[in-house]
Amino acid sequence: MEKSRKISKLCILCIVLGMLSVATIVTLWSIALTDSRVVTAPWDIYRLPDTLKPDHYKLTLWPRLTANEQGLYIFTGKSYVVFQCVKETDLILIHSNKLNYTKWEGGQLAKLTALGNITAPTIKSSWLKETTQYLVMQLNGYLTVGEFYQMDTEFVGELADDLSGFYRSEYEENEVKKVLATSQMHPTYTRKTFPCFDEPAMKAVFHITLLHPRGTVALSNTLFYVFSHLDIVNTTVKSEAVSQTGFEPTKTMSTYLLALIVCDYAYISAQEGDILIRIWARRKAIGERHGEYALNLTGPILSFFEVYYNTSYPLAKSDQIALPDFYFGAMENWGLVTYRETNLLYDPLISSNSNKEKTATIIAHELAHMWFGNLVTLRWWNEVWLNEGFATYVSYLGADYAEPTWNVKDLIVLKDVHRVFAIDALASSHPLSSKENEIIKPEQISEQFDAISYSKGASVLRMLSDFLTEPVFVQGLSVGVFRHLNVDASGMELPSTVNDIMNRWVLQRGFPVITIDTANGHVSQEHFLLDPDSVGTVPPSEFKYEWIVPIKWMDAGVVQEEIWLLEKEGTGNLLDLHTLLIFTSDQWVLANINVTGYYRVNYNIKNWERLLVQLSTDHQIIPVINRAQLVDDAFNLARAQLILTTLALNTTKYLSKEREYMPWESAMDNLDYFYLMFDRTGVYEAMQDYVRNLVTPLFLHFKSMTSNWTKVPEGHTDQYNQANAIRVACSTGLEECLNLTKGWYKQWMDNPDINPIHPNLRTAVYCSAIAAGGAVEWDFGWNMLKNATIATETDKLMSALACTKDKKLLNRYLEYTLDSDKIRKQDATSVIVYIANNLKGQTLAWEFVTQNWEYMFTQYGVGSFSFANLISGVTMRFSTNPELDQLYTFKQENSDIGFGSGTMALEQAIERTKANIKWVDKNQKEVWDWFLSETE
Ligand SMILES: *[C@@H]1O[C@H](CO)[C@@H](O)[C@H](O)[C@H]1NC(C)=O
Ligand SMILES: *[C@@H]1O[C@H](CO)[C@@H](O)[C@H](O)[C@H]1NC(C)=O
Ligand SMILES: *[C@@H]1O[C@H](CO)[C@@H](O)[C@H](O)[C@H]1NC(C)=O
Ligand SMILES: *[C@@H]1O[C@H](CO)[C@@H](O)[C@H](O)[C@H]1NC(C)=O
Ligand SMILES: *[C@@H]1O[C@H](CO)[C@@H](O)[C@H](O)[C@H]1NC(C)=O
Ligand SMILES: *[C@@H]1O[C@H](CO)[C@@H](O)[C@H](O)[C@H]1NC(C)=O
Ligand SMILES: [Zn+2]
Repeated sequence: MEKSRKISKLCILCIVLGMLSVATIVTLWSIALTDSRVVTAPWDIYRLPDTLKPDHYKLTLWPRLTANEQGLYIFTGKSYVVFQCVKETDLILIHSNKLNYTKWEGGQLAKLTALGNITAPTIKSSWLKETTQYLVMQLNGYLTVGEFYQMDTEFVGELADDLSGFYRSEYEENEVKKVLATSQMHPTYTRKTFPCFDEPAMKAVFHITLLHPRGTVALSNTLFYVFSHLDIVNTTVKSEAVSQTGFEPTKTMSTYLLALIVCDYAYISAQEGDILIRIWARRKAIGERHGEYALNLTGPILSFFEVYYNTSYPLAKSDQIALPDFYFGAMENWGLVTYRETNLLYDPLISSNSNKEKTATIIAHELAHMWFGNLVTLRWWNEVWLNEGFATYVSYLGADYAEPTWNVKDLIVLKDVHRVFAIDALASSHPLSSKENEIIKPEQISEQFDAISYSKGASVLRMLSDFLTEPVFVQGLSVGVFRHLNVDASGMELPSTVNDIMNRWVLQRGFPVITIDTANGHVSQEHFLLDPDSVGTVPPSEFKYEWIVPIKWMDAGVVQEEIWLLEKEGTGNLLDLHTLLIFTSDQWVLANINVTGYYRVNYNIKNWERLLVQLSTDHQIIPVINRAQLVDDAFNLARAQLILTTLALNTTKYLSKEREYMPWESAMDNLDYFYLMFDRTGVYEAMQDYVRNLVTPLFLHFKSMTSNWTKVPEGHTDQYNQANAIRVACSTGLEECLNLTKGWYKQWMDNPDINPIHPNLRTAVYCSAIAAGGAVEWDFGWNMLKNATIATETDKLMSALACTKDKKLLNRYLEYTLDSDKIRKQDATSVIVYIANNLKGQTLAWEFVTQNWEYMFTQYGVGSFSFANLISGVTMRFSTNPELDQLYTFKQENSDIGFGSGTMALEQAIERTKANIKWVDKNQKEVWDWFLSETE
């Protein structure tokens, strides 16, 4: 193709993957950072001073897997760090949080020695600063620039079950309780494990040794010495018999990527070239081959990324381990990736195809970080979006390579683009990139890991890669050539430098809606806000909320050449849209083909009508991704009062002929909003009737495709849509569906050893049967949950148990979330949100959260609840003035406790509730009439 030919010329100019030599990622877009620190004591500032530079650490840790006499699980540690003085100073600041130190002579918390030919200054005083999480040492003299010093410490910390730092996880195996020690250092918990310079740019080499009970295995980022010379020794420390495992020194790396694990696990392994690949899990899970799928995928995905980055895998081994208690989905520790069990373990007999896809994409995401993120690392957390957005984007490429029949790349539009549009259309959204000095405190750092960073980051990078083409994109990313790229030098048909284009998308919040008027060829853009009245609260942007927009479009089914919109209105200077958009009278135009652009599209009403006619006559002419787009855009444009709500509803009418997953999923996502707003009103019944009529043909289609539910559809997304058909048919009360699901569940209750329900359908079937049933069905589900041997099954039951209509059961279930023997801490947020999703559980869940906020926030552990998800989850249905008042009261009453990583979510909830109130007010009657007229 023309475009790629020009591009390959350009690539000769790039230094092919200069990655290895750079210590930090070159940010692609120059961002002026002003540092406006106020003058305070250095230990009151959250950022480390630039006086010292770590070189290496030597660390020995000993986690105790049984409680001590006080009932406390602890670990003890000994470490030293060697650092260089790079600016003269008489102060040492090093991160430390929740560690108790053994005092050295003179009562100091550490010992300081100089490594060169000089003597180190003596320590004047040393203490712990809790707020900023430092160990502070003031010296009686200055450190010498260029010299190396060693700081020794001995300390004890708690091996708590708080899912952060070096922590404890528990499970039962053959009715024996097992305790393991594992770690979650990212983003700021390494300092909870040993004193360290805990910032991503403070890279160093780590020499790690673990003491652990004999017979257990110790794991870390590198291989243990036994592979080169025997260094697992049985020894006795303080009269306890232990093994000691020493690990090869790491590469120079960031503190947040360390991993330390002691467990009684088994593994399976394979060799890919020189790389040793191992999958670790509970012995039983490995015995039942639940790690096999992950093992099958890892080799190919690593090879894929080696080609993609044009760089070998940087380490000698790749360990991946499934943990019973884990806060995040997975964590990309360099060489030892940790996962929630559901995201790594897979059993073809019990797990669904959705579990399988999740495993593939999450493995690909984490392995992508082994290069991007770990080998090259962001200087500071304000650029998290680049790290996470990139890994999210390429996870689809990696998964697609491993499972080419799935068309998984298309799904990014549903899972990331549409998902984040909903958040980024709020005035309370934020730009991808923040200023470095705005992200300083640990909770601000945690807050960076939101849907904007992951999903908008991925969407915007996908757009960039689409208009640059993939090869130029990868090379540009690694060498930072974008900044200098312009039309003349590259010969590419870009209207501006990549830097200019990307700044608009990265530095300002939100995204545009492009309006195309086919009557006169007029094209314009506008900042898209779900609530048009919130304009007043949107802070100014230096780019005035104008974007440089690539537009791929179709004219009556034929894909046209990409055009660019450069200004607020008009046609840009590349091509004249006026001349392009001259149509014969009855043809339609469709823009943003495959939703590669990060924007929505609106048209004149005539064009909308033509598109609707096309959908109802022959929808297949329109690409499947765009069928999903038309529905999603229409519903959201209606929310923003740019088109009529009935026009949006009209886009769903053709679905009675639609068999594809993406448009259905898109429609259900949008109708879900109608359910949330109206399921407490008279609209509900008419809506149920309409949706039932719509889904019945789909239900019957799958019934016949699967020979009366006895076979599994072949296509990956057909399997998804089969589950959708059952979920929606049952939830709208289609008799045949209810009989089917109740029958299956009953059959299972009669013979618990044989589950007759196909894994793909379990979430839908369990929910339907538990909603239709009572305490007996619920208790059976709960028992099955407790007995489940694979976490993917636990998860399905966990969501289904929230479907019951019995308030007593829902309350009981809510209480379980504060009892980690019943519901693991990692799952508590999800359960509460599932319950809030249920009409009968909405109020119960909200009251539960408000009543327990202080306890959850202060006692239960900041690492346990995802406060952002919790707040947005339990307020989803809020659409009345009393509910808005409740939100304000909640905000006010808990202002002294705080909302931590949920602060932004609370503001968003308030904004969303206000918009909902207005929307319901304005639309209820019209919507009701529409459903009635469509079902009479
Ligand atoms: C240390 O200092 C002594 C005396 O000043 C000198 O002879 C020696 O070479 C120095 N050693 C190093 C390693 O610099
Ligand atoms: C650290 O010291 C505090 C205060 O004495 C104590 O409450 C805590 O239990 C100690 N932590 C450990 C792990 O020993
Ligand atoms: C250490 O002890 C464990 C358990 O008693 C035993 O299995 C292992 O072989 C011993 N290792 C060495 C190096 O002696
Ligand atoms: C893993 O690969 C092997 C060999 O190709 C295959 O037999 C097995 O079914 C695969 N396992 C899974 C869970 O995909
Ligand atoms: C749109 O996506 C589909 C499915 O992934 C693909 O087959 C098609 O080539 C894409 N169209 C364009 C114009 O890129
Ligand atoms: C929706 O469809 C109905 C019936 O086809 C039509 O009468 C109505 O005008 C449409 N509404 C809009 C806003 O296009
Ligand atoms: Zn990531």
